Amino acid sequence: MGWNSWNAFRTEVDEDKVMGAARVLVDSGLAKLGYNHVNVDDGWWLKRRQSDGRLQIRTGIFPSAATGGAAGTSFKPFTDKLHAMGLKAGLYTDIGRNACSQAYDLHSPNLPQGTTAEREVGLEGHVEQDINLYFKEWGFDYIKIDACGLADFVPGSKLVKDQDYRALAPLIDRSAINRTDIGAVRSRYEAVSTALKAARPNNDYILSICAWGMANVRSWGKDVGNSWRTSSDITPSWTSMLHNFDSAAKRPLYAGPGHWNDPDILHIGHEEFDAEHLVEARSHFTLWAMINAPLLVSYDLRNGPASLLGVVGNAELIRINQDQSGHQGVVTYDSDDAQIIVKTLGDGSRKAVALFNRSASPAPVILQARHLKLADGVAIVLKDLWSKKMLTFSGEHAFTLAPHETLVFEATGKRQLENGFYLSEIPGAVNVAVDGTRQAELDPTIHRMIDPWSGTRSSGSRAQYAGWGGAQADATPYGQTLQIAGQAFDSGIGVLSNSRLQVINASAHAWLMAAVGVDDSSANTGQAVRFYVYGDGRLLAESSPVTLGSKATPITANIKGSKIVELVVRDAKSGTTLPVVATWGDVRLVADTAASD
Ligand code: GAL
Repeated sequence: MGWNSWNAFRTEVDEDKVMGAARVLVDSGLAKLGYNHVNVDDGWWLKRRQSDGRLQIRTGIFPSAATGGAAGTSFKPFTDKLHAMGLKAGLYTDIGRNACSQAYDLHSPNLPQGTTAEREVGLEGHVEQDINLYFKEWGFDYIKIDACGLADFVPGSKLVKDQDYRALAPLIDRSAINRTDIGAVRSRYEAVSTALKAARPNNDYILSICAWGMANVRSWGKDVGNSWRTSSDITPSWTSMLHNFDSAAKRPLYAGPGHWNDPDILHIGHEEFDAEHLVEARSHFTLWAMINAPLLVSYDLRNGPASLLGVVGNAELIRINQDQSGHQGVVTYDSDDAQIIVKTLGDGSRKAVALFNRSASPAPVILQARHLKLADGVAIVLKDLWSKKMLTFSGEHAFTLAPHETLVFEATGKRQLENGFYLSEIPGAVNVAVDGTRQAELDPTIHRMIDPWSGTRSSGSRAQYAGWGGAQADATPYGQTLQIAGQAFDSGIGVLSNSRLQVINASAHAWLMAAVGVDDSSANTGQAVRFYVYGDGRLLAESSPVTLGSKATPITANIKGSKIVELVVRDAKSGTTLPVVATWGDVRLVADTAASD
């Protein structure tokens, strides 16, 4: 949580603006609520000094950096000031040689200056040097690492010629995953992660990967960084907010404590999310809170209206977002019109639920106990986290949501599963070690907005982000209802064959139980698969081979004492390229087998 300069000022950032934001964070109480990072985005640099490769800061806009001496410039006085205010300091760089502003903000007064080499301010060739400078010498706590350097400086392009940049054959092709070198992009970020671990062995830093959902980062970001952008830049429009939300909302199993899906910094305070659009601003904030997105406010806090502080300062929603268990909200009712998102809190006795009207018309939304995995016929108490009003119902309750409105409640009731958890209730405890995708496929379910930059100057808006076919909570990898031989499951995990999930058995449950089988939606209809459960590396239970049409097979594993439980599905015979859609129906961790269905 914190503040970022980009949506407020783009490259026209300066020390006064940043320190102004820092002061408001402290004075308004937002810092106490958790907004403690102050992140300087693109625009801070002057050049890379050629005598020793040391980055020089643009002191015209960051006067305290003019420290002189052999170092030339230093951000240490700046980070010292932030630290003295009880805040943390964040900085921006690029994984390639050049940054995004050098491709997209050519009018900017704050572009790096000098020769071609002096203007190479990105990390390429300088990973250790720059990371040590930022983290050991300058004292930063957070780094956002962009990726334009790997995408936009194409040999022979007008940009490269006009600006006299060194070309780099792109490792990321934004419009073609098959022309993107996923392994090379990942290994560059891994090198940064290694340098960071060496620079800050206490692990007291944040690595924010900004590859905009490209290069299959939605699948591997969790293994490399603390957050990873799941989509292109948010703009202050409803349609862009939908697009960015969608890019992260169906990836709950890929996030958890210390590693988060990042649908981008907040655009609250601007255009369709300004003080004249509080319904939309509240929706934007609620949705980011529910899916554990980083909460980085990014408007000019010095001049912001109090009503917006009331939105981003909703302490209850911040508590939901920051809940220590780290379970991202799961979309338990899905449509293009309205969605229901449910997030397990704390020890599981409480849940947060958001009812989200995506559309511009009023939406009828019936919330059912089953959406919450709470028992029917027992009172469910809802506390509205905006109005603070209480409401009690059992079974189901009908709401009418205003256009673009999101209602959000904390819910308590009797859990459907009193003696444990469905894994889809605790996605933060699940790690998708191998998701079984044979090749990166593009996710077609993300809201297709009119591109904010090119408009309709193309044949249309196409799927862009890999990750389709990954593991899903309460749905198949391709977004279908979980179903084995005609038996539908409200709860469960959908995977592909040849996948491996790791589950932290934090509450020391004794049993893992499920009903497993090939999902009725599988396109591979011939292949048999087997399901296996391991505890700390030992095989505990396995199914016989099952094929499409085989009835759901019960599987029960005694996991007493196991810290890590693994759920594996393997093709019975190797050689098929098409994965089998495999369903762990009702998969749950329970204290005893008796009370479970
Ligand atoms: C984009 C990035 C933005 C911002 C900008 C700076 O690539 O997604 O969040 O950092 O570059 O130029």
